[in-house]
Amino acid sequence: MSMKKSLYLDNAATSHPKPESVYLAVMAALRSGGSSGRGSYPQARSADHLVFETREALAQLFNLSNSERFIFTSNATAAINQALFGLLRSGDRVVTTMIEHNAVTRPLRELQNRGVEVVKIRVDSETGIVKKLALQEACLCKPTRLLLVNHCSNVIGTIQSIAGLGQWCREQNILLMLDGAQTAGLLPIDLQALAVDLFAAPGHKGLMGPQGTGFLYIREGIELAPLAYGGTGTNSSSDLQPAHLPERLETGTLNLPGLAGLHAALQFLLQTGVEQVHLREAQLIEKILTGLQKIERVKIYGPDNVMLRLGAISFNLDDYDPAEVAFILDQEEQISVRVGLHCAPDAHRTIETYPTGTVRVSPGYFTTEAEIDRFLRAVQKMSDKKRKI
Ligand SMILES: Cc1ncc(COP(=O)(O)O)c(C=O)c1O
Repeated sequence: MSMKKSLYLDNAATSHPKPESVYLAVMAALRSGGSSGRGSYPQARSADHLVFETREALAQLFNLSNSERFIFTSNATAAINQALFGLLRSGDRVVTTMIEHNAVTRPLRELQNRGVEVVKIRVDSETGIVKKLALQEACLCKPTRLLLVNHCSNVIGTIQSIAGLGQWCREQNILLMLDGAQTAGLLPIDLQALAVDLFAAPGHKGLMGPQGTGFLYIREGIELAPLAYGGTGTNSSSDLQPAHLPERLETGTLNLPGLAGLHAALQFLLQTGVEQVHLREAQLIEKILTGLQKIERVKIYGPDNVMLRLGAISFNLDDYDPAEVAFILDQEEQISVRVGLHCAPDAHRTIETYPTGTVRVSPGYFTTEAEIDRFLRAVQKMSDKKRKI
């Protein structure tokens, strides 16, 4: 019996495959040894250089001049936690949306227990779009410290239009933070022009780096309390955490193989161009949406305009439990998709798919048209089967 080749369509969780150079860079870093900030011998010096270059590449990608304002974390969740617990104190107020990932919702819930006021604004139940005016009105009701927006939904792919919001926030003395987990590397983002104050992202999704990498951008002038204290390789005679970034918020040995992979991935992105990656993603999304729309009894969630969305595409098939669809795709077709609530229960309450959720398919830069056709044929087969019954 011939086994089908496995097809990975869960790039919203982590991108796969990565560019070949990423695998090679991880291996090379592991083999060469050395840790940044931990010596003046060649391996440590080259680790220092690699970390510096990776920061520089991030600054270039997001159009910022001072790369020291990017701190490395182990994923987007760690970056979000650093921003929120480092910034907010009892009595502060945060405005956010009903389409956030648990990486935002859960820290905010804990902060609520510690006296922070959290206001969640509804999003449109069809498109997932939050009205800018609704956010602004909520921010103006009472003194607000932070406006925190999910840049793109990991459930239905909605991109929130934030143009002008950063400038408005600056005028109102409110900080603007974006959860860029689903946009970094997939959408051209100019953090300077957008006047974003805090930007959290993983290195392992659209940026195409290894799992275990992520970062937080912190605009100059914003002070965050560290969440961890310890060795940084600098000012070792002092028992105080260094005052300057990035050391202040990067304690302990960095994930050098991960950062080496991230560096290679960023080089790949800078050479390819994020615009090009976005264009490719839009072609694949268009193909999936048009294909799914033609299949009887498929319901697709989120915007149908490819310019308003990215590649996390949620759908359900009438008469099937979403878990059953994912199970059949996995067991009979060797196609890997995500199913359930995708760590965003509020989003599912809004689109009325709570508690069973949706099937989520998400292509990546290296996904081919033939692979999308194979996925669509598998869904068609399921739809036909149920019709016969
Ligand atoms: C919108 C959003 N925010 C945050 C996260 C958390 O990212 P990480 O797994 O890198 O911590 C995810 C991951 O799926 C996400 O989609």
